[in-house]
Parts: sequence; structure tokens; C-alpha cells
Amino acid sequence: MANVKKVRLFSSDLDGTLLGNPGAVVDFRKTWEMNAEDSPILVYNTGRLHDDARRAIREGGLPEPDFFITGVGTVVYDVVKGETMEGFSDLLDEDWDLSVVREKVMSLAGIEEQPPEHQHSWKSSWFWYGKSPEEVGQLRNDLLAADIQAQVVYSSSRDLDVLPLRANKGNAITWLCGHLGVGLDEVVVAGDTGNDSSMFLVPGVRGIVPENVEPELLQVIEESNAYQAKGSCAEGILRGLIHYGVFPEVAGGSCEGR
Ligand code: GLC
Repeated sequence: MANVKKVRLFSSDLDGTLLGNPGAVVDFRKTWEMNAEDSPILVYNTGRLHDDARRAIREGGLPEPDFFITGVGTVVYDVVKGETMEGFSDLLDEDWDLSVVREKVMSLAGIEEQPPEHQHSWKSSWFWYGKSPEEVGQLRNDLLAADIQAQVVYSSSRDLDVLPLRANKGNAITWLCGHLGVGLDEVVVAGDTGNDSSMFLVPGVRGIVPENVEPELLQVIEESNAYQAKGSCAEGILRGLIHYGVFPEVAGGSCEGR
């Protein structure tokens, strides 16, 4: 254990990871605040767009983060400065043409566009139910064949996000760490569905999945040594943070003994 680095940054998904088990959110918040002096940099890395993510953490009772990565790794926002980090956004336009992407995806059988509040210029989001990894892979190939260089991200056997090639949650956290001078081996990530896979694939990071992890993510992390925690959502995530030595114990105690 001697060369295991102290955790300097924690990047976590929201829905189904930190949100979804209200009692455990209370414990998470208390534990985070009790250890505020020594807590890692907190990054919420979510598929939601910015206003929606802010509303979710306020209503859910989560602590204020240092950074938001929203829209499945398409926007990085510095909370202290109160501004979007344009250095990351500048990378996304390369080879990206939203209208061509929409036209191509729209022609798929059984596809349904998500409501406008889930769309923005670097995120084209759809409902596409019950697709296998092979069918998603086929879509990736079809886009490539049409000269569309994009990230195709599939989550919860329902949500399809098509994003610029340089986007996704893992690429965004890698960029942010580079910007902050945080080593990837000083990072812990947490998530529960397909759109979190790219975070777990960042070389050197340590991962936590809660008990309610979706099979689509389990498949991806099979060969990584991510910590598979007992306990749903924030309850599992807290156990993982304790496992990695971020916190000595859970404040509040409603997770204990379960
Ligand atoms: C969030 C977003 C949705 C996206 C999903 C998966 O639910 O609101 O647009 O498809 O995450 O990334």
C-alpha cells in the first residue's frame, strides 16, 4: 500500500450513484462536511445539463461541488469562478456537425428524441430501448461509415447520447485533472450506468460502483479492480470512499450494519 497515492479528486455521477437513497445522502453530506478540511476536490460528473444538475443536488441535499461536468462530459464548469471552462469546450467542435448526427440517428428504427431540455449543441440525446452492445456497436460503425466521428454512449438500456469525439465523462475528467495538475492516480471515480464507463477506463483511476450498478457498466469494468460496494447509491459510494481511505468512518450512521 506504500505507493498508493492520497485521493485528491473525487468524480461522481449523480443519479443512481449519489442520488436515489435519501438516507445515505444525509450521511454522505455529513461525512463530507465533517471532513471538509481534508476532503478531495469534488466533481459531479453527470448526464444532466447544468441547471438540471444544480436543481438535482439542491433538491437531493448533496454538498456544493468544486466543479460540474455536465451533459455526459461536454461541459466543464468551475463553481468557485462561476464560469464554464472554455478550454475544454474549444476542443469539441472539431469534426462535429450536430445536424448531420441528428439526421443519421433519426433514421434508426424505434428511436425517439429526448425532450429539448436534454439537448445542446454538443449532446444529441435519444431514447432507444433495450439495445444490445452489438446493436450499439453497429450504430458506431454506421456513423463512422458516414464519416461521423462521434462518441456513442448507451445507458440504462434506454438512453443514447451522441457526442463529439473528444467528449465523454472520462475525457472531461482527464482534461480537468491535466488543467488542475492532479495525477490520474490521485482520482477516485464513481458511477452506476453505461455513461460512466469512460470514467472507469481512465488509466490509473480507482473506481467505486454501488450495489445497484447496471450490468452494462459491470461488463466494462470486469477487468478493472473497481470496488464493488455493498449498499445502494450513496451508501455504497461512502463505503468505497472509506475503502480508499478518503474518510475514516460514516457520519450519521444510517448506513451502518446494512
Ligand atoms: C441524463 C440526461 C440524459 C442522458 C442520460 C444518459 O439522464 O438527462 O439526456 O441521455 O443522462 O447519459
